Formats: sequence, C-alpha cells, structure tokens
Amino acid sequence: MCGIVGYVGKRQAQPVLVNCLKRLEYRGYDSCGIALLGKNLEIYKDAMRIESLEKSLRPNSSHTGIGHTRWATHGKPSQKNAHPHTDCTGKIAVVHNGVIENFLQLREQLTKEGHVFSSDTDTEVIPHLIEKYYQGNLEQAVSRAIVDITGSYAFVAMHVDWRGLVVARNESPLILGIGDKEFIVASDVPAVLDYTDRVIYLEDGDIGVITENALKCTSNGKQVERAEHRIPWSMEEAQKAGHEHFMIKEIHEQPRVIRNTYKGYISALEPVVNLGISKNADISDILIIACGTSYYASLVGKHVIQSLSQIPVRVEIASEFNYSDTVLGKTWVIAVTQSGETADSLRALKKAKESGCRTLVITNVVGSTATRIADETLYITAGPEICVAATKSFIAQLTMLYLLALAWSSAGVRSRASLITELRQLPNKVQELLDREEQITEQAKYLARYENAFFVGRGINFPIALEGALKLKEISYIHAEGYPAGELKHGPFALLTPETPVVALTARDNTYDTLLANIKEIKARESPVIAVAQEGDDEIEKYVDFLIRVPRVEPVFSPVVNAVALQLLAYYTARERGCPIDTPRNLAKSVTVE
Ligand code: F6R
Repeated sequence: MCGIVGYVGKRQAQPVLVNCLKRLEYRGYDSCGIALLGKNLEIYKDAMRIESLEKSLRPNSSHTGIGHTRWATHGKPSQKNAHPHTDCTGKIAVVHNGVIENFLQLREQLTKEGHVFSSDTDTEVIPHLIEKYYQGNLEQAVSRAIVDITGSYAFVAMHVDWRGLVVARNESPLILGIGDKEFIVASDVPAVLDYTDRVIYLEDGDIGVITENALKCTSNGKQVERAEHRIPWSMEEAQKAGHEHFMIKEIHEQPRVIRNTYKGYISALEPVVNLGISKNADISDILIIACGTSYYASLVGKHVIQSLSQIPVRVEIASEFNYSDTVLGKTWVIAVTQSGETADSLRALKKAKESGCRTLVITNVVGSTATRIADETLYITAGPEICVAATKSFIAQLTMLYLLALAWSSAGVRSRASLITELRQLPNKVQELLDREEQITEQAKYLARYENAFFVGRGINFPIALEGALKLKEISYIHAEGYPAGELKHGPFALLTPETPVVALTARDNTYDTLLANIKEIKARESPVIAVAQEGDDEIEKYVDFLIRVPRVEPVFSPVVNAVALQLLAYYTARERGCPIDTPRNLAKSVTVE
C-alpha cells in the first residue's frame, strides 16, 4: 500500500518530506515523488528509490509540500504514474492512497470536458476534479470533488494560490502529526515520529485544512474537533502498528484485504461478479500452476471453480509441471503467484504460453514479471507483505479465486446471490475471529511443547490442512504434515502416539460425519486432538482435547476462517518457542531460483 506525507510549518519542507518517506520505506514501494509549493509547483518523481529521488533534488526553501511512496494498483510502476499528480494548469498537486472505483467514468467525463490526462492512475482524476471546481477556495473545491468520487481515499491536495494543505479521508488511514508551529500529514504513524508524538486520527468523511498555525476539520460541512493522542511507540513498534511482529499485523489486516480484493468486482445492483475476464467458449479445462502457499490456495480454487462453473480444473505444482508431459489442449492456464516473480511459476507460465494456451496470472505485484508474460492479469490488492510467511496474500488469493468461480458460475441467480452476500460477510467473520484471538494462545502453548504434528482436513479443507502445516513448520520449526483425514490410516497411523498432536479442521458439509469418525480413530491411538470447529457445534466437543472456535460461515467459505485460525495458531506457537517469526531461517520472500 502507498504511503502519503505532507508538511506545513516552520522548517524547510523538502528534507522533512524525504525523511518522512524514508520512514515509510519498510512498507515496500515501487516509485516515489514529492511536490513543493511556491510560485509554481516544483515536482520530483522517481520510478525507483527515495535515495535516487533525493539526489535529483535542487535546494528549495518552501515550507509546504507533499510526498508519496507508491505501491502500484492502477498503471505499472513508472515515473509517469508516480505521485504527486497534477491538473491541466499544473497549479494543483495531489498525493493519494486508496482506490477510486469510478475513475474510468470520471476520466471519460473529464476528458470530454477538455481535461488531458498524463498517467494511467485512478488518482489523476482527483486534481482534475479539483481544477474543475476550483473558484479561489481549495477547501470548497475538495469538498465538491469528493462528492463525485466513489471508493476509498486518503489524499492531500495543494494549490499554488492557496497557503497550506487540504486533506480528505474515506476508508483509508490518514493522521495529522502536531508539532510546534508545524503539521505533518501521513498515512502512517512512523512517518511523523521523528517530529512529534502528538497525533490526530482523521475519520471517514473528514476534510482538514492545514496552515502553519491552524487546523480546521469539518465533516458534512460542520466543523468538528478530533481528539489528540500521544503515541507511546518506538519507531520499530510504530512500523508494526504496535504489533510485536509484521506477521500478526498482516493477519489483522485481512478483513480489509478481503474487502479491497472484491471491491469493484461485485455489482451493487445485481448478484453479478464481473472481473473483465471472459470465459472463452472453446476452453476445455483449466490448469492452475503455483508454488507453496499459492499452490494450496489454488487447490481450494479448484474445488470452488469446479463446483460452481462445472469447468474441469487441475492444479499442478509449478516446479513439477515444468518437467511433466501434462497434456495441454484447449486448456486455460492460470498462474497464482503473490510476488509474480517465483522462478518456477514464471517458467511454467512461459511453457504454457509456448504451448499456445491462453494464460492468466493472479498476483499482488503490479508490473511483476508474471504480468508481462501472461495474457491477462488479476490483482489481489493485499498490499505489501513484509513477513516472509504468506498470510494476507493467501487470503486475498482465496478471495480472488472465489470471485473467479462466482464470475463463471452456472448456479442460479438465487444461489449466486446468497454466495455473494456470504462473501461480503467474510471480512466481518474474520474480524470476529481476530477479536477473540486469545482463545488460541492456550492451544498454542500446548502445541509448542511438541516436535511433530499432523494437520488433517477433508474436501475443501484438505488444502487448509496443508497450509496450516506449512505455516507451523515455517515459523515454529515444528515438523508438521498436512494430510487428507481419510489417508492417515494408510500409513501415518504408525506415527500416532501421545507425543503427536493432530489438528483437525471441520466444516459443516458432507465431510463432517466422516471427519468426526476420523477424529475418534485418532483419539483411539492416544494422539491429542485440537479441532477447529464452528460456533454451535457441540457434538465435536466430546471427542477432542482442545477446540478453536471459528464463526459460522457457509461451508464453501470455511477455508477462509479455518485458515485464519491456523495462522494464529502457528503465530502464537512460534512466539511461545521464541522463533524469529518474520524472518524464518533459510527462507526468502521471493524465490527467484528454480
Ligand atoms: C509460504 C510462502 C511460500 C510462497 C511460495 C510461492 O508462507 O510464502 O510458500 O507461497 O514461495 O510464492 P509466490 O506466491 O510469490 O509465487
């Protein structure tokens, strides 16, 4: 996700802005820029790093400016798409976080009215709208412009004929750091901590007018006061938003990530998902290729796409596909790779392309190599993931695969409508689970004592057993294996002892009764069982040692809540064992070798 900063005050703005942007670097970015207010705007942009932007800066004595680090969502990473963006007159500059959902309509309308656009971004419509409504008062122009905008935003605007900054917020974080005769605007607390620990959190719908000595905040046209808070965090704590590790911070971002991923694809008027990707009539089947966590997400995708669309789906581990004679006919090949840079997945994608297959990539990183190979791309908008172990990118991949299944669903309107309603409920369900995360710490303390564990599931939750085992082994170094619950008796039973805990995933679907029978078989071998079960499932309580309760959801969406429960279990187990959670040994975030 992008970072935004703004400064008005007694100091020269340029070094403050550069320093604030550096404090946001940990979030990841692909381009950056600043604009300084003077008789004219002085704008610097760089398609790479803040250090190179810094080298290009000329001395400037302005006391007002804005800055941005961009994580591309619309338009590839480049200097032209880097913020700040300006209007036609070059008098207005804007930095923005969030997604303007109706930017295409706005852009079309503004173009008809004579505005000329110079980037591919959604953001650029904001300075043009402000230009359209500007009549000598920037606050009024911003107030009018946001009426036209649908979507999420936190932005900072400035105009050469107006002293100070105007900021606006809706569904994207925006704070104001308060110093002595100075204000620092930012999307995140770490950006302001070198200057002040006093902050105001703006709320949705707020518009702030900031000058060196004053701050005025309005909401719905009425002046409002927002409380001032003191931030007790060190810089490192602030970068993790007060969490102990990036992993737990990222786990907590998941409700927002699910929303961001489906937003814009579900029609507000009818139960329809439109991804802008058509299901070609002469496609015979789908092959999904992926590695690691992305492979497990793909296995869930196979279940849902197949059951909703009736299209046959296979999933292959990319590194295996590269050496296989898999038959590709009129197969549509989908690569799932959060980084878009995994060497095995890139090679598999090239192989599919060379075989003449239509190719699609589902990724988190705009402009990544995979997007340049594949014919089509779908972005999961999880934002940068800093912990090596994937969490929010996995949940975003699942969300996108549900969308794909719903987009091509041959189910009737009523059942599609009810699934879409359920999908929209998922962020709240995940939030409910996160609000009760302490329930998992006891089980984690228990699991942390062992060196081996099994994870079992059936049907759509078998891939989640694989993912749960992977998360646990990666970050806690406990040897863990994911198994289909019905397979244990075909060999692994030999390993079941009181020293081998089994984590069992349940869902209230057609697998439930057999899974319960499997749990009883495991208990008969004296292995302790930790079950993940929905609220209201009283039956299971009789057979297991520990329960992790997850909110009730339609069985098709049970992988989402079950996966989040296992992420928390892995996290708290690793924490109990004192492991370096964000940077596990021998692992890298992006695996660029085959
Ligand atoms: C595990 C994890 C890895 C990745 C795998 C593929 O937590 O992150 O297993 O899922 O290396 O990476 P991408 O999705 O970038 O292709």
